[in-house]
Amino acid sequence: MNCRVCGGEVKQFLDLGKQPIANGFLTKRQFSKEFFYNLKVGVCAECAMVQLIELVPPGNLFGKNYPFKTSSSYQMVKHQKQLADFIKKHALEYSGLIVEIGYNDGSFLKNFKDYRYIGVDPSSLPKENSHIIREFFSPNVGNFIVESVGQAQVIVSLNTLCHIPNLNELFEAVNILLEPGGVLIFEDPYWDSIKKDTAFDQIYDEHVYYFSVTSVEKVAEQHGLKLVAATWQPVHGGSMRYFVAKATTRTFILKPPEVPEAWTLIEKATSLSDETFNGFQDAIDRKRRALQGVLATTEGKRTVGYGATSKSTTLLNYCNIGRDQLEYITDTTLAKQGKYSPGQHIPIVSPDEFHKNPPDYTLLLAWNHQAEIMEKEKKFKGGWIHYQRGGWQV
Ligand code: TMP
Ligand code: ZN
Repeated sequence: MNCRVCGGEVKQFLDLGKQPIANGFLTKRQFSKEFFYNLKVGVCAECAMVQLIELVPPGNLFGKNYPFKTSSSYQMVKHQKQLADFIKKHALEYSGLIVEIGYNDGSFLKNFKDYRYIGVDPSSLPKENSHIIREFFSPNVGNFIVESVGQAQVIVSLNTLCHIPNLNELFEAVNILLEPGGVLIFEDPYWDSIKKDTAFDQIYDEHVYYFSVTSVEKVAEQHGLKLVAATWQPVHGGSMRYFVAKATTRTFILKPPEVPEAWTLIEKATSLSDETFNGFQDAIDRKRRALQGVLATTEGKRTVGYGATSKSTTLLNYCNIGRDQLEYITDTTLAKQGKYSPGQHIPIVSPDEFHKNPPDYTLLLAWNHQAEIMEKEKKFKGGWIHYQRGGWQV
């Protein structure tokens, strides 16, 4: 196939088999109609963009969308507050405009109540709010904002860009909207962290791209922009925060001496050597066998899953873990409770069930929220099964 970003040749290096829709939690009656697609990943030989080979046609996303409300995780709220403080100190003047792509539940822009701000998001928004544009971010939306209120000094996007198939249109829109001295700051799961931790469950239908410093540099270049800095972030299992400015800018508002840590991570992180990519499938298969082995040792005991995440759909289906291994999955999202997990059809229950009737072992599926969950479930006396320091620990 050809790269969605630059048209170069994409070489497949990973096959995660037939997978259901990651967020396609379903009722019993929907079992027979469940949609599956081929989850395969490749890398572009020209621009190093790691991307899905096959996309699910939008009409098949038959399940509901269960957007994760950022505000329901105190760690994420804290992370966003720190970024907001950084922006106020180093990137945004009081008169400047800040625009967020992927407003979610408003938890990030809440930090900018006294500033001029606009959130752009087609879904999951509270009702009328004059600061919100309920659309996909596009050149049209960019032009509309410029004509209505002027260019943005800061554009922010958290865990959103990797979902957008037409990245070229997105960067074109950024170029329209951004002031000459402004900055785009975005964060997404980092390819090198996924690789290092063999975190293949980060791969699912909604994540079209797995960015690296190299691939972001290339896509920015194609649109008159440049990557000026990148810093690693310990959220969502390892993310990168990218700072992108106009290629022509000389009066970049972020000044290196003021933010030295932001300048440390510009390195050619993704090597294009075949080894990097060829070894990945083997590493994943070893991780799968190890998990199956651990679950085999708990046979006869009661084992459940914690957190019906999108990630867990890839993990459970690739490792073929079903109701024989996990009695249920507990999750706080009301709309998921009473339904069944995609593909494996494991019942989703409320945390009350978990507390009333605790199992012997719990497989931590929402591992990106580990600290928060361990704190919350201090009273659980059974064993946790989780992946750490390169192996499954019990
Ligand atoms: P996501 O990572 O796919 O967005 O899903 C996170 C899921 O984890 C979401 O359904 C809520 C669930 N969750 C819990 O059940 N308990 C928790 O303490 C946290 C932080 C998340
Ligand atoms: Zn490419």
